[in-house]
Amino acid sequence: MSENEEIFEKYRLAGRILSEVRAEAAKMVTVGESLLKVAEFTENLIREKGGEPAFPVNISRNDEAAHSTPSFNDKAVFGNDMVKLDIGVHIDGYIADTAITVDLSGNPKLVEAANAALEEAIKFIHAGVNTSDIGGVIEDTIGSFGFKPISNLTGHGLAQYIQHAPPAIPNKRMPGGVILETGDIVAIEPFATNGAGRIRNAGSAEIYHIVSDRPVRHPSARALMHDLEKYKTLPFAKRWLGERVDFAIIQLTKAQIIQPYPILKEVQGGLISQAEHTIIVTEDGCEVITR
Ligand code: CO
Repeated sequence: MSENEEIFEKYRLAGRILSEVRAEAAKMVTVGESLLKVAEFTENLIREKGGEPAFPVNISRNDEAAHSTPSFNDKAVFGNDMVKLDIGVHIDGYIADTAITVDLSGNPKLVEAANAALEEAIKFIHAGVNTSDIGGVIEDTIGSFGFKPISNLTGHGLAQYIQHAPPAIPNKRMPGGVILETGDIVAIEPFATNGAGRIRNAGSAEIYHIVSDRPVRHPSARALMHDLEKYKTLPFAKRWLGERVDFAIIQLTKAQIIQPYPILKEVQGGLISQAEHTIIVTEDGCEVITR
């Protein structure tokens, strides 16, 4: 096997683990179930199957689009929510990324809009397509259901230990764009909403990543930094770090060594649905590794 083919095999293995995990996790999302239980079950199942979580399981509800994950002693349970599970697996840093919407809110058409946009985009993609035109397909498909795409969230490339690598894959027709090439690995993730079609930062962070390797003075911050090194540049959850890390987290954030991902919410409080697959671009189409 060539070195490149070995790398593609790691992506494919991450994708196979992820599609099994996604199915099991989605089954758990029911009214009254604990968000923390679903998150821990999902992340443990990834490890049992031989992968590592590429980022904390995102469990976003209703007008939340992303970056929501339960805290250490979270008591929240699902109600009649529109629930998005966004899950990632990596093998030696090679990441597969997928998302599914489980609708407990009685809005199946909104879910169908995101799913259809993802399928149309997958059918459209091959080496030589412009990312702007992929955005156009997503925008038109979601529009045909009477909804809007979230215009300031995009799909993305994937690289070793880098969850959001170029190119961005817009969810609407954008000027410019780049041409996809054979062997490009990208995550396509349309979001559909009955709101305005934009998200804003809404504070309250449980997910962080390392942004600098600058030395840190305080002993507890230094000890935490040592524990965080294994995540490299990948996102991690505060709840993975035990109970008494608040002080060290604040020190590392102030020193701009780690950075939080704020929760993202729809600007008008609209409901949001999401669908996502990771693909490898081929000459005449694409290979979906998270099917
Ligand atoms: Co993604």
